[in-house]
Amino acid sequence: MARHDAGVIGSSVRWLFTSREHHNYTYELTKLSREHLAWFVSITCAVPVATVRGYMDELDNDEALRDHITSATAASARRGLADKQVRYARRIGWYAIVRAKRPAHVVETGVDKGLGTCVLAAALLRNTAEGSPGRVTSLDINPEAGYLASIAPWSEVVDLVIGDSIASIGALDRKVDMFLHDSNHHVAHERREFRAVEPKLAPGALLLTDNVTVTNVLAEHAERTGRRFLAYRETPAKHWYAGDGIGLAW
Ligand SMILES: C[S@@+](CC[C@H](N)C(=O)[O-])C[C@H]1O[C@@H](n2cnc3c(N)ncnc32)[C@H](O)[C@@H]1O
Repeated sequence: MARHDAGVIGSSVRWLFTSREHHNYTYELTKLSREHLAWFVSITCAVPVATVRGYMDELDNDEALRDHITSATAASARRGLADKQVRYARRIGWYAIVRAKRPAHVVETGVDKGLGTCVLAAALLRNTAEGSPGRVTSLDINPEAGYLASIAPWSEVVDLVIGDSIASIGALDRKVDMFLHDSNHHVAHERREFRAVEPKLAPGALLLTDNVTVTNVLAEHAERTGRRFLAYRETPAKHWYAGDGIGLAW
């Protein structure tokens, strides 16, 4: 117990003095957690695990994206609330899923700075270059959201919509191949999003939630709609936060 608590206190103190983030924390995954994420994507997307590892490395090695996020963060009026280091955590799984499944239309609810939007856009740009074009519609209620995703080339595949996600989902005029809930994490709102998007889904669409360590909403939705479901729980490296995860229904 003492060893465990000393570790948590140590990373908490380090975070207090070195991090500017007060929510939506960023961190690297432990090596083991990253490997489990590769297997999670491999099973849910039916692609070899070595291919998934290749997609993850591709994101790690995307220096243009890293440089863009670093400079856009430094130039932003909200730079005091973001760390300088670029760390994607479970978003590397979002990237690998988009690379593996090549969706034509991704919808993400909840944008914040736009880190996840950039990651999704980077995967869609690679897919486009390989002959499978795709776009992401990103929904947020905050008019200041998405500043990281407003610069080309990433912005060229991003449609940012400001407003309540339920109304914005209702106004979607294109079928959705991949839907990611990451907005208001209250059970009722998460449930309303999955219900609202159901009539908008293309056949075989993937449903993802960022809230899987907190609610069982997507698993229940999967059971109700005859889908399969799996959950991955991330383990942050050198951070006091217990981590989030990816819930996936297909
Ligand atoms: C956890 S952050 C999103 C993180 C982002 N997906 C990422 O990868 O970093 C949650 C976001 O949801 C937005 N939000 C909260 N309630 C919302 C609602 N009812 N409709 C749309 N967006 C909402 C907040 O403004 C906030 O930017």
